[in-house]
Amino acid sequence: MDTYAVWGNPIAQSKSPAIHKIFAEQTGQNMKYIAMLGDEQHFERQLQEFFAQGAKGCNVTAPFKERAYRLADEYSERALTAGACNTLKKLENGKLYADNTDGAGLVSDLQRLGWLKPNQQILILGAGGATKGVLLPLLQAQQKILIANRTLAKAEELAEKFSPYGEIRAVELKTIPPYRYDVVINATSLGLTGKTADIQPEILQQAGAVYDMQYAKETDTPFIALAKSLGVNNVSDGFGMLVGQAAHSFRLWRGIMPDIEVLLNRGI
Ligand code: ATR
Repeated sequence: MDTYAVWGNPIAQSKSPAIHKIFAEQTGQNMKYIAMLGDEQHFERQLQEFFAQGAKGCNVTAPFKERAYRLADEYSERALTAGACNTLKKLENGKLYADNTDGAGLVSDLQRLGWLKPNQQILILGAGGATKGVLLPLLQAQQKILIANRTLAKAEELAEKFSPYGEIRAVELKTIPPYRYDVVINATSLGLTGKTADIQPEILQQAGAVYDMQYAKETDTPFIALAKSLGVNNVSDGFGMLVGQAAHSFRLWRGIMPDIEVLLNRGI
């Protein structure tokens, strides 16, 4: 039986094993998918041992996405531009292939919600790893992007790097132009601390839709709660993105795309 895993630290909370189990049943694939706790000091050695024992692939989550990327031999364009990977695949020739399916997961989810039309203005809050991972697929989906970050220089750096792929600009979080953005996406790490980025309420009130790349079980994330308290009805957390990135990883490994919608309707 082929073995896959998700590596992270912490990892006990991960929903990926449950998602991939459902995908495997859905598509009749004979595989197992387990959660692996990465060690901050020995992650590289752990991953090498995992593949030496015959594993076919893995997902990688925080805080190892950059370290996993550096271990790979070959890269997809979206992994290369992100400089980080959430998916590794052992190729037939023994080489390790890195992909980043986070952005494809987000794009799939925005499509599912009916929120992705060409030439929209998207506002992304945050300029860290989460943002970097989704910029190329969003630009390829013909979205115009404004990145707003507390530290302007980081947003500017990303805007410059990704400008060959489409229309992308940078602004400081405090000075976001009060415009009607089609979709406002939270990609800051703030929800984890129960807080939200400090932006003008009008930005959310006028937004066509509000999306949080984070998700929370049976409750609203702080960002979604804020949007709702401001009267925004078109909101979604990032659970569909999680399922989407898992589906794109699954397709890379097994050559078959699982049905995201069926899983979302049924729940896990
Ligand atoms: P991730 O991989 O989750 O993106 P990260 O790379 O550490 O994590 O990036 C965290 C993001 O959240 C950054 O955009 C960060 O802003 P800075 O670049 O200014 O640090 C943002 N963030 C974290 N704490 C914040 C806060 N209190 N207010 C505003 N933005 C914050």
